[in-house]
Amino acid sequence: MSKKNTETSKKFKRYTVTSALPYANGPIHIGHLAGVYVPADIYSRYLRLKGEDVVSICGSDEHGVPITIKARNEGVTPKEIVDKYHSMIEKSFREFGISFDIYSRTSLDLHHQTASNIFRTLYDKGKLLEKETDQYYDEENKQFLADRYIVGVCPVCSYEKAYGDQCESCGSSLSPNELKNPRSMLSGNKPVMKKTRHWYLPLDEYEPMLRQWILEENKNTWKSNVYGQCKSWIDTGLKPRAVTRDLNWGVKVPIENTEGKVLYVWFDAPIGYISATRQWAEQKNVDWEPYWKDKDTKLVHFIGKDNIVFHCIIFPVILYAEGTYILPDNVPANEFLNLEGDKISTSRNWAVWLHEYLEEFPGKQDVLRYVLCASAPEAKDNDFTWRDFQSRNNNELLAIFGNFVNRTLVLTHKYYNGVVPPLANPAEEELNIKEEITAFADRIGNSIDNYKFREALSQMMGLARLGNKYMTDSEPWKIKKTEPERVKNILNCCLQICAVLSIISEPFLPFTAKKLKQMLNLPDLNWESAKDNNLLPEGHNINEPQLLFDKIEDRQVEEQVKKLHNARRENEEKEKSDLESIKPHIKFDDFAKLDLRAATILKAEKVSKTKKLLKLLVDTGVDKRTIVAGIAEQYDPEEITGQRVVVLVNLEPRNIKGIPSEGMLMMAQDTNGKLTFVSVDKDCENGATIA
Ligand code: MF3
Ligand code: ZN
Repeated sequence: MSKKNTETSKKFKRYTVTSALPYANGPIHIGHLAGVYVPADIYSRYLRLKGEDVVSICGSDEHGVPITIKARNEGVTPKEIVDKYHSMIEKSFREFGISFDIYSRTSLDLHHQTASNIFRTLYDKGKLLEKETDQYYDEENKQFLADRYIVGVCPVCSYEKAYGDQCESCGSSLSPNELKNPRSMLSGNKPVMKKTRHWYLPLDEYEPMLRQWILEENKNTWKSNVYGQCKSWIDTGLKPRAVTRDLNWGVKVPIENTEGKVLYVWFDAPIGYISATRQWAEQKNVDWEPYWKDKDTKLVHFIGKDNIVFHCIIFPVILYAEGTYILPDNVPANEFLNLEGDKISTSRNWAVWLHEYLEEFPGKQDVLRYVLCASAPEAKDNDFTWRDFQSRNNNELLAIFGNFVNRTLVLTHKYYNGVVPPLANPAEEELNIKEEITAFADRIGNSIDNYKFREALSQMMGLARLGNKYMTDSEPWKIKKTEPERVKNILNCCLQICAVLSIISEPFLPFTAKKLKQMLNLPDLNWESAKDNNLLPEGHNINEPQLLFDKIEDRQVEEQVKKLHNARRENEEKEKSDLESIKPHIKFDDFAKLDLRAATILKAEKVSKTKKLLKLLVDTGVDKRTIVAGIAEQYDPEEITGQRVVVLVNLEPRNIKGIPSEGMLMMAQDTNGKLTFVSVDKDCENGATIA
């Protein structure tokens, strides 16, 4: 893999670092954090420490069909959905120390303008194809069925609930026409075909450019999972891709006579990076354009593997066709993080949500950041388990990092009143240590430059390990009386290690680094300073130590595992009962056949030799008739005389226990079997129709 270590060869003037814009239709879970936001944050923090000019961009992706469907299901507007989740997501990022320079959102006017302008430029330059095609249409809802508005059987794996754009079971990317037995998500009906007009980005025309740029120029710099996916897309043959949709939620198509059409969410969302940069630049009063247009800018997209084609092929083609933009230098996509051996899934409720984690483990942001980075799915899918979480906290953060720092600081206070002792006539061992600690910053930096965050983290821990072992081996507490000068040297060295740790741990563990700097009484220092092995000069005063980490007990992680399983079970039960209780769709015509009327019970008596039945005389407004109802166990005849009810009056008459029953009483039954009357207001006269 050494052929990939070529990132440092070119010097850039500035960095534009983007993180995939999360859809504002749900909260953020650990999979998002491990795959995208923790690595992007480590990268950006490191660059800032190096004094680079860097802007770290993110925001909410607020368009697209999943959002409109969720709004419809919950009976609210799409705007209400995105407002709710935008602030929730923004809060989670802030709480976990994900240090975006801006967290924007695609519903802003500025974004609509930016996306519109880019689309219009492509249109004016003749870079888009206009095509009229047949598309699925829901006649009842008078709507074209794009993407997730249509479901059917996957042509690849036969999964029953594949979407028009993707099968979530086998991961195939689909187009609606490929689905077998298609149905509308809105009405459940079989859709019809109807003509519509759309604009396409002719990806096929860019194949030579993509081959040259990705398959040749970036062969050795892009991760092999990313490179491999791109190669397979290009080799399979690129096709023109529709970049507009018939929807009314999104960025309006900036062409005359296109009512009811918006830009495809994957056209506008990545442009959100540009809009967010503009917003940030306006606030800072700087020029945004160099961050997107200057060849000396390094543009890096952090994403998950399901976003590869959009960031490596479609978005670059948009930027290239527009003509004035740079292309990404790298797209370090990660694979997926699993949870306790199973795929993370929002719909099956198998996830650890960030806001819930913080309720259970307040103040432990860095522990999660650490564990997620240490087991990040960099080259292949990886598994998060609560056991591993516990053991990394207890055996690594606490036993190595925390323990080393704590022993150093406690002893410095105990022996020297918190004043850094001198290093005088160091032995060879101390000289070696001092020499070694200067090498960490470059080593870690090189790994980060090459997007090897796990490696970088383990190198950082290597320094804590080195310090911890040095202290354990040299046992200053045993020789304090006999070799006081040596003990001063040992503690001086340990303190220098702590100081370097307070800098190099910052990208990974920002909260811990801050505490450590405060305890060491150090100001913010840059990455270069971490090569200085005498950051704490003799005589420097340090502050009182506080514990950096504490033990996580078996009970705590067992609870988390239980909680996960419970959440999934509840979800399954709910789905099952929803599924069982809802009957298949009926046509309106079928419903219209029911003749329901407001009525009043005039008389009631028990049917002899039965437990359940009451014989009722009912005034339906049209006539007075007899109905037999199975409510005797819950209602006494006397108490229901005069009760207003709803009656199905055109049910075929039936003989019940020899009594002709003409119609049926509408009753509600709760899950305990308790029956209540479906009733009408008193001023609604008998015979009023109900529909
Ligand atoms: N919202 C998308 C997702 O969660 C990612 C959008 S990334 C951007 O998969 F490029 F479109 F911004
Ligand atoms: Zn499938």
